[in-house]
Amino acid sequence: MKKKNVINLIRYYAEKNDPAFREEAYEIARDFDASGDFQLSEYIMALMSSANAFVPQMHEDQMTFFRKVAPSHDSLPLPTPIEKDIIGIINAIQRNMGINKFLFQGAPGTGKTESVRQIARILERDLFCVDFDTIIDSKLGQTQKNIAALFDELNHFAHPEKILVLFDEIDAIALDRTNSHDLREMGRATSAILKGFDNLNEQITIIATTNLFKHFDKDLSRRFDSIVDFNRYTQDDLQEIAESILNNFLDDFKIAGRNPRLFRKIISLNKKLPYPADLRKIIKADITFSDATIECDYLKNIYKSFVGSTPDDLHKLQTQGFTVREIEILSGISKSQVSRILNGDGQIKIAPKEHQKRRSLNATNLLFHKPQKKINLAEVYRKAEEEIVWR
Ligand SMILES: Nc1ncnc2c1ncn2[C@@H]1O[C@H](COP(=O)(O)OP(=O)(O)OP(=O)(O)O)[C@@H](O)[C@H]1O
Ligand SMILES: [Mg+2]
Repeated sequence: MKKKNVINLIRYYAEKNDPAFREEAYEIARDFDASGDFQLSEYIMALMSSANAFVPQMHEDQMTFFRKVAPSHDSLPLPTPIEKDIIGIINAIQRNMGINKFLFQGAPGTGKTESVRQIARILERDLFCVDFDTIIDSKLGQTQKNIAALFDELNHFAHPEKILVLFDEIDAIALDRTNSHDLREMGRATSAILKGFDNLNEQITIIATTNLFKHFDKDLSRRFDSIVDFNRYTQDDLQEIAESILNNFLDDFKIAGRNPRLFRKIISLNKKLPYPADLRKIIKADITFSDATIECDYLKNIYKSFVGSTPDDLHKLQTQGFTVREIEILSGISKSQVSRILNGDGQIKIAPKEHQKRRSLNATNLLFHKPQKKINLAEVYRKAEEEIVWR
């Protein structure tokens, strides 16, 4: 071993240049081997092949068609049947029995991509995502060539057992060949993927996602060992997920006011809750736009978003099953006044819209109903007296 090798090793380590570090280590091992120090050479080789500290494959800069994706550390509450399928996939990958191609299909925002990031975290694998922007090329036949090159790059990963490959929104290149605009080009691209899948190194694990499964190429879907349906959210699942999303945001925004019971009551009024990604967006906006100085002010916005009207009709709130205290939180009217109004002996002061509506209704009544003839009471009495005398 020369001084140069030692200096290079330290330099590559400091520069985090893993491929160059490995190459240098192998060179040192070859050197020992050549000088008859076989044991030391084998020891270095063994160290390098089991080294977890280094990214085992090509350096990211050397990759043409892939980009590294960070694993997910956020919690991802999934419905039980989906969670069971994911656990099954993790077991299958760990057993390494050649079951290595999985497709996650489902509506947008159901957690497909996020689940892949979770699987990478659990398996402690590096996650590489196919960069379709570099694959799709407007030049005729070029996409097909790029796909072939992508699979070539994939099959040359040094340690495929330590990575996970994500084909996110694979439909970008693999829609039904009988149904696409650019029929022949799409057909060629899909055929190239089929070929790539058929000649794939068995050690490589691929997870693909799509939200266009209906239009998915049937030959390609047959290539997957397992297809997980991400649409299996019940209304109860979505309610639970909404609650966990809310709690996470309240923690993030450091909002102390909590009322899980009231939150649950509000969202249960919505009979078709959106999928988790939309739930997240709505709840985040509702909290962001609320007044942090008023306790549980965000719940008014939550009511507006999920029920579709402002919570200022006290009688409606009562029929929706809210308690006086809950009505106070939602409407901003004090509990005592709410009680008086609901018992019919109080005036609604903070419901201007409702007032205006009534007033305008009265106005339209005046405009559209014929004015009634005025009754002259003196005339009525006089007529009555006349009748009595006459009899
Ligand atoms: N079950 C869930 N619980 C909580 N948050 C979720 C859940 N599923 C998805 N999300 C959140 O929704 C957002 C979108 O999720 P993700 O990108 O995984 O959806 P997707 O199914 O891949 O959607 P698309 O088909 O549009 O790519 C993420 O921020 C994720 O954290
Ligand atoms: Mg996705």
